[in-house]
Amino acid sequence: MGNEYEMDKSTNPDHVATPRWVVENIYSLINVEEFESIWLPFNNYDSEFKNKAEELNLKYKSTHIFDDLGNDFFTTHPPNRCDLMISNPPFSQQNDIIVRSFDLIEQKAIKSFALLLPLATLETERRASIYQEYNDKLSILIFKKRIKFLGHSTSFNRGCCWICYNIPALQERRIQWV
Ligand SMILES: C[S@@+](CC[C@H](N)C(=O)[O-])C[C@H]1O[C@@H](n2cnc3c(N)ncnc32)[C@H](O)[C@@H]1O
Repeated sequence: MGNEYEMDKSTNPDHVATPRWVVENIYSLINVEEFESIWLPFNNYDSEFKNKAEELNLKYKSTHIFDDLGNDFFTTHPPNRCDLMISNPPFSQQNDIIVRSFDLIEQKAIKSFALLLPLATLETERRASIYQEYNDKLSILIFKKRIKFLGHSTSFNRGCCWICYNIPALQERRIQWV
C-alpha cells in the first residue's frame, strides 16, 4: 500500500497535506485533550494530525484508504466509543463525506466531528439543507486567511472553514473567525 500511497500523493490533486499550524490551531480550539477516543480518517503515516496526536499522547486511531487495511472512510467503522472524528477530507467528495458523517452521528458511532472544508461548502441548497437540519449543535470556524496546502509538486491556497458538530468547547460561540 505504501507505493500506491506515494503514487496517489504525486498524482491526485485532492491529495494535499494540512499544514501543522492548522492542526495545532484546531486541536487547541476544541480542547482536543478532553476527547477519549479520536478517529482521524483520511490520515496516513505522514499526516500532521497524526504527528501532533502522537506528541500530545492522545488516544486516537488514524486510518487511510491506502493503509495496510485499505480503510475506506465509507465502509470503515470508527473506533469504539469514538467521541471525536477530525480530518481534512478530499474536497471533491465532500457531499458524500458530509452525509456519511451525519449518518455516523445518527448511528451514535461517533459523538462529534470537525471537518476541514472549502468555504464553498456553505454553498448549494443540498448542503445548506443538511447543515440547517443539524443547526442545533453545528459550529463553523472560518479562516481569516487562505490556507496554503502542500501537494507533492503543487500547492494551492484555499479559503476554508471547519464544520463542527457537537463539540462542547465550541457551543458557546458557534461562529468564529480564526
Ligand atoms: C485532502 S487529503 C488530506 C491528507 C491528510 N489528512 C492531511 O490532512 O494532511 C485527503 C486524503 O484522503 C485520502 N482518501 C481519498 N478517498 C478516501 C477514502 N474513501 N477513504 C479514506 N481516505 C481517502 C486521499 O488519498 C488523501 O490522502
